[in-house]
Amino acid sequence: MSVCEGKHIVLVGMMGVGKSSVGRVLARQLHRPLLDSDELIEERTGRTVREIWASDGEASFRAIETETLLAMLGDGEPAVLAAAGGVVLAEANRSALTESDAHVVWLLANVDLLVARVKNGVHRPLLDDDPEGILRQMYTDREALYTEVADAVVSVDHRSINEVAQAVLRCAG
Ligand code: S3P
Repeated sequence: MSVCEGKHIVLVGMMGVGKSSVGRVLARQLHRPLLDSDELIEERTGRTVREIWASDGEASFRAIETETLLAMLGDGEPAVLAAAGGVVLAEANRSALTESDAHVVWLLANVDLLVARVKNGVHRPLLDDDPEGILRQMYTDREALYTEVADAVVSVDHRSINEVAQAVLRCAG
C-alpha cells in the first residue's frame, strides 16, 4: 500500500517552482481533487490575491491563507494540495502541516529557474520590484522552514512537469 493512500499529498515550495502545474498532473493521475490555496482564497473572498494584498495588506492575506490551509488539510477526501509559497511562514501553518498525517513534499529548484518562471506572476505582488533579489533572499529566509515541514524533497531542476509528478509519486510510494 502506498504511504499516501488515504492521505493528502501537499506540495510546498517557492513561487514559480510548479506546485499548481505538478499538482494538476498528480490530481489527474490519482483521480483526486486538486486544492490550490491561492485559488481557494480567491473563491472564498471573491477577490484576487493582489486585491486583498493591496486593500488589506499582507497580514490580512496571511490570516486568510492560514484559514484556507487549515480548511484544506481538514477536508476528509484525500486530495492533492498546492499550498502557496508563503504557507510555511506562520508557525500555526507549520504545526498544522507537521501534525496532520498529510504527506508534505517540498518541490525544490535552483533560484535561477524560479526567476525565469515568475515573469508574469499576477498573483505575486511581492515580486513586483526586483524579483530576482527578492527570490534569492526569500529562499535564504525560507529554506529551513520548508525543511521543517517536508516529509520528502523533490528537485524540479532539469525535469519536466510530468517527470516531477512521477518523482513525487515515487517518493510517496
Ligand atoms: C506568496 C506566494 C504566492 C501567493 C502570494 C505570496 C509567497 O503563491 O500566495 O503572492 O509569499 O511565497 P504561489 O507560491 O502559488 O505563487
